[in-house]
Amino acid sequence: MKLKQIVQATMAVTALIAATAQVQAAEVEVLHYWTSGGEAKSVAELKKMMEAKGVTWKDFAVAGGGGENAMTALKARVIAGSAPTAAQIKGPSIQEWGKEGVLANIDAAASEGKWDANLPRVVSNIMKYQGHYVAAPVNVHRVNWLWVNPEVLKKAGAKAPGNWDEFFDAADKIKKAGMIAIAHGGQPWQDATVFESVALGVGGADFYKKAIVQLDQASLTGPTMIKTFDTLAKIKTYIDKDAAGRDWNLATAMVINGKAGMQFMGDWAKGEFTAAGKVAGKDFLCLAAPGTDKAFTFNIDSLTMFKVKDDQQKSQLTLASAVMSPEFQEVFNLNKGSIPARAGVSRAKFDSCALKSMDDMDATSKSGGLVPSFAHGMAIDSAKAGAIQDVIAKFMNSTMTSQAAVQALAKAAKAK
Ligand code: BGC
Repeated sequence: MKLKQIVQATMAVTALIAATAQVQAAEVEVLHYWTSGGEAKSVAELKKMMEAKGVTWKDFAVAGGGGENAMTALKARVIAGSAPTAAQIKGPSIQEWGKEGVLANIDAAASEGKWDANLPRVVSNIMKYQGHYVAAPVNVHRVNWLWVNPEVLKKAGAKAPGNWDEFFDAADKIKKAGMIAIAHGGQPWQDATVFESVALGVGGADFYKKAIVQLDQASLTGPTMIKTFDTLAKIKTYIDKDAAGRDWNLATAMVINGKAGMQFMGDWAKGEFTAAGKVAGKDFLCLAAPGTDKAFTFNIDSLTMFKVKDDQQKSQLTLASAVMSPEFQEVFNLNKGSIPARAGVSRAKFDSCALKSMDDMDATSKSGGLVPSFAHGMAIDSAKAGAIQDVIAKFMNSTMTSQAAVQALAKAAKAK
């Protein structure tokens, strides 16, 4: 059922149950899906900060990378008339929820903290519904990374890849040396994550924007998209047979412990390396995915605020302000692998991968290479994104040809 229908159909029930579903005073309930090692450490910092301010943290964690399970749980709670104080919702979905009339206006926190001045426009625009802040950003994740274990490369006699030829050369050598070349988890959102980096690397930022953001039919079915799927098909041959259903952090662990050489994943993977005590540039490398050095797929996590009872509004605004504080943005992102969303946070404690991300975000925002991640809900509405993700997953799990895939993709792009 579509979000709109769900919410409409249950408005009456909502009103009825709302009266009995009160949360305690000075409490925030936060829905998120940050349950891996690095993610849990990151969100624990917010809990600590809220409790230091006298606000009780009610954890509403729903495991499942990419957040699909969490979104299902959220819909159920909104239907039941007991929306949490805040939920990890991002990108165009914030607008979808805004249209349902269930989001809270947090302009008071935003004007007090001068959010307009402290956030890049590309971030603040996403946080607003009809000109009012309804969400607070926690970070900027970059998706187009390749995580590499340099020990594995060394053992295999391969060098760190800078383009597709070097990538497949390294993959061949790792495979020949008896290790897994590409660590991957066969889940639709992970397939989509690899796909978008490949599309960006094969076609460049302009192609990515036309095909994946604007959903231009000719670009979706043209030769560059065919080449994208051909490249994806080749990548499949370097993934181990046990990949089906594997969680992303377990795939990252394979790179961490040297079982596998490389992984396409956003920089929440770095949170896992960091939690395992690994050092960027020494124990692991963060390279732009092949061919994507001049581009940056952004994925901004944000806590979107739901309408709460009058006596809960103060705690909600406290949460919003805490999220945007430089102290939180620093400690959260040091653990999470991402970079602060706001200006005015010291770079001093960040590692070489984070500094590269900060510099590249800045450079690509001027060059036109800064693009929203489709796989992480930043580019297109959820119905279209879901339909496209299904096509990619089918391609990854069958013998579907690239020709058939682009046709299916073009059809999925029209989903409503
Ligand atoms: C979220 C990250 C999260 C990752 C894995 C992404 O969509 O933006 O915060 O760590 O999924 O669950």
